Amino acid sequence: MVKIGASILSANYGYLKEEVKKVEKAGVDFIHIDMMDGHFVPNISMGIGIAKYVKNITSLPTEVHLMVENPNMFIPILAEDVDMISFHIETCRFPFRTINLIKEKGSKPIVALNPSTPINSIEYILDEVYGVLVMTVEPGFAGQKFIPQMLRKIEKLRKLIDKEGHNVQIFVDGGINLETAPKVVEAGADVLISASAIFNYGDVGEAVRKLREAVKFRQQ
Ligand code: DX5
Ligand code: ZN
Repeated sequence: MVKIGASILSANYGYLKEEVKKVEKAGVDFIHIDMMDGHFVPNISMGIGIAKYVKNITSLPTEVHLMVENPNMFIPILAEDVDMISFHIETCRFPFRTINLIKEKGSKPIVALNPSTPINSIEYILDEVYGVLVMTVEPGFAGQKFIPQMLRKIEKLRKLIDKEGHNVQIFVDGGINLETAPKVVEAGADVLISASAIFNYGDVGEAVRKLREAVKFRQQ
């Protein structure tokens, strides 16, 4: 079954608790929290405090997407409190160290790739991570348009994972909506992350239902 994560980047921050409860009720599988530092990406979003707050108000797993220049600085003060941490390979000189840091604190490591970053940059760490997060837009903002070349990238990654037999989930993040969701799942994605297609749809419950409907051709 394809999993769905709700990115709270498009939530109404004045009602964050209610927004989280809404997506929980709508049946998403986890909450995706985008942390930005204004250096790795040209935007600033949520920090450690928000990540811990969200963890405390939901029974769903939480995933923090670190779009920061120095992930190793944040992991020790974050990893005990969240279930999954996505770090960008572009920010990481020693990814095995970063992965170990995340695992030591009891969280699951996910390696994220910007759209133009080649798959071979993560080839040798596939045994060590829980997931690969393929950015399907340039990171930094919600509501951007899906980059179509990413379908080829997902297909290629799927083939590599299957051929080598890694136990790794493919996450996709950016521009995922009713039109792109079936395409990425067809290409091999296991987990969809969406902000605007869930929170800006109007009825959150219906948005999630429709997304599930769009990818139900894949049963396992
Ligand atoms: C972008 C973030 C995404 C973003 C997705 O930098 O990493 O998680 O919230 O937003 P949508 O789904 O609107 O493209
Ligand atoms: Zn994200």
